[in-house]
Amino acid sequence: MKLRLTLLFCLLVCLPGILIAADTPTIKIETENISLIYRVGDNGRLYQHYLGRKLTYESDLNHLPQGTEAYLTHGMEDYFEPAIQILHNDGNPSLLLKYVTHSSSSLEGGVNETIITLQDDKYPVTIKLHYISYDKEDIIKTFTEISHREKKPVILSRYASSMLHLNRAKYFLTEFAGDWAHEANITEQELDFGKKVVDTKLGARANMFVSPFFQLAVDRKAEENSGEVLVGNIGWTGNFQFTFEVDNKNELRIISGINPYASEYQLPANETFRTPDFYFTYSFEGRGQASRNFHDWARRYQLKDGDKTRMTLLNNWEATYFDFNEDKLIGLMDEAVKLGVDMFLLDDGWFANKYPRSGDHQGLGDWDETKDKLPNGVGRLVEEAKKKGIKFGIWIEPEMVNPKSELYEKHKDWVIHLPNRDEYYFRNQMVLDLSNPAVQDHVFGVVDKLMTNYPDIAFFKWDCNSPITNIYSPYLKNKQSHLYIKHVRGLYNVLERVKAKYPNLPMMLCAGGGGRSDYEALKYFTEFWPSDNTDPIERLFIQWGFSQIFPSKTLCAHVTTWNRSASIKFRTDVAMMGKLGFDIKLEDMNGDEQQFCRQAVGHYNQLKPAILEGDLYRLVSPYGSNHTSSMFVDKDKKSAVVFAFDIYPRYGEKLLPVRLQGLDRYKKYRVKEINMMPGSGSSLQGNDQLFSGEYLMTVGLNMFTTQRLHSRVIEIVAQ
Ligand code: GLA
Repeated sequence: MKLRLTLLFCLLVCLPGILIAADTPTIKIETENISLIYRVGDNGRLYQHYLGRKLTYESDLNHLPQGTEAYLTHGMEDYFEPAIQILHNDGNPSLLLKYVTHSSSSLEGGVNETIITLQDDKYPVTIKLHYISYDKEDIIKTFTEISHREKKPVILSRYASSMLHLNRAKYFLTEFAGDWAHEANITEQELDFGKKVVDTKLGARANMFVSPFFQLAVDRKAEENSGEVLVGNIGWTGNFQFTFEVDNKNELRIISGINPYASEYQLPANETFRTPDFYFTYSFEGRGQASRNFHDWARRYQLKDGDKTRMTLLNNWEATYFDFNEDKLIGLMDEAVKLGVDMFLLDDGWFANKYPRSGDHQGLGDWDETKDKLPNGVGRLVEEAKKKGIKFGIWIEPEMVNPKSELYEKHKDWVIHLPNRDEYYFRNQMVLDLSNPAVQDHVFGVVDKLMTNYPDIAFFKWDCNSPITNIYSPYLKNKQSHLYIKHVRGLYNVLERVKAKYPNLPMMLCAGGGGRSDYEALKYFTEFWPSDNTDPIERLFIQWGFSQIFPSKTLCAHVTTWNRSASIKFRTDVAMMGKLGFDIKLEDMNGDEQQFCRQAVGHYNQLKPAILEGDLYRLVSPYGSNHTSSMFVDKDKKSAVVFAFDIYPRYGEKLLPVRLQGLDRYKKYRVKEINMMPGSGSSLQGNDQLFSGEYLMTVGLNMFTTQRLHSRVIEIVAQ
């Protein structure tokens, strides 16, 4: 009797709202082609029954095996990595989650949200699993909310955004690792029993050594156009972690989230810990379809100004580095006009007076124009640009400081540094402590002051060259383990303010190359700088890597003087596959080359509907090949553009035609090589002739040559 009363008491008091197990609801999260299915077990716990190709017959769902517990907790009977770990007020480190309720709602056409609420049966801890599904794009966005009503804060030592389970014969992980100037290299490995962890600890960015996304092929290695591939992405501009664990039953568990390294979080009662978003797609036609899913989704839902076009530009960085004055810059603006680009972008080196920014060792943090370089301020430059009919953009790196600066002298308490140790510098600079609201105001103020003084500034390049070093926040005092999380949240606060006040201001994201390449940051930025390496050969690989995830309108690609053994045409053709810019002086080119670049800008503008808004088909990979080719097809399949590059072909190599993709097989297309050096003709077989889409996709075009560093741009227009 006593036992029954206790049980009844527990049901009424400890477990408000927990359903009796007999209900065992099935929860379907679906897109046009994917099903993710959860069901509540007889024990009231939530299991992932299925993830894969869409299951359309409701009655079939009963046949699915139970699967593994959806969001595994520490301290219970599972022996592998948990998604969450909590220390309760009484010192108990366990969590047992039972289903409470779920809800589904339609957010807008084709976008639905499902929220599954789970609760511990002994402690007042609530976990909400959120799933936002984008029907047409086959993307699912997930995040988790953690809250509790214990008296004192609970300690969170793991807090995954998502946990997914797969049960297949084999698993192949593709990661995108590298280093500065060597970003997003593609390597693939089979996963066997045990764990593979992909993570970073850079603090102020996600990436330098490895990108915050992956591809996971099941049963066989990932291919471009066939096979099942799950592609995941974490939206967090800081330390992230993916854990891939194959268990004793050869089942794979994928845990994605903030890297919990040095980041135990004390969560007070009634406050919600919201994890970053994890986005994934599941393609049944290889990597290519997965990329197109992400590109479409990003343009439609995630990217800042995803549906808008992008500006071509001339940047002065590689043309001048820090060595410029007003006249030199105005001269470069004239060159921008000659090139026909939309904008002139002033890079690093325009600010600071006590310690003028003459190199990267001083001045960072002091955002007043250097008087002897720019006696009439930025205002004069903005005016000149206006007179010349081009836009003006400017570089900032507002989250950082050189120790040799007035900002550091005045506000050392704003700098992340260890109070009792020598300072360690990365590129002679340190990171400001964005967990501190006063620092957030300062960083916002850098943009706000420039925009207030010069409202015609039309673009920012926002840089962030140093990871967090000397890891100690003077502001957080005895809560140092919050630094990595609060710092990134502080950055988002600032970016929210910038976006709210200047909603139409396009911005490029840069972190010493591709250090910030994640979809949360791209909510605030229209594009990013994938690498400081602009050697066109390297760029073929780097852009191939990033194109797996990001649409071309986000991938800034500039024509520079890196690798002069490649012609200006080759360099420009590579850059035209992204968001085209120039970082070069006209005097670095002869007359023909200058004329070529002008024409190329014109061609690029014409091709924008295909390159920026269309579908990308990667035709021939540069990995393991002497050639590479990609094409873009506009959404109504009326026009397309194919890029073909011969890198280091072998003597006497057999060249095969390349089959195009994504065209309408019933349409007739005119095939025409464009973007050629002045005076040179095309040797393309079938140039300026009509072909059916069927022919182009079945037989293909002979686009490759045995000429070293040769490139082609071929326009395909429906008649
Ligand atoms: C970083 C960027 C470059 C340039 C320099 C300026 O390295 O990646 O493009 O802006 O900073 O210091």
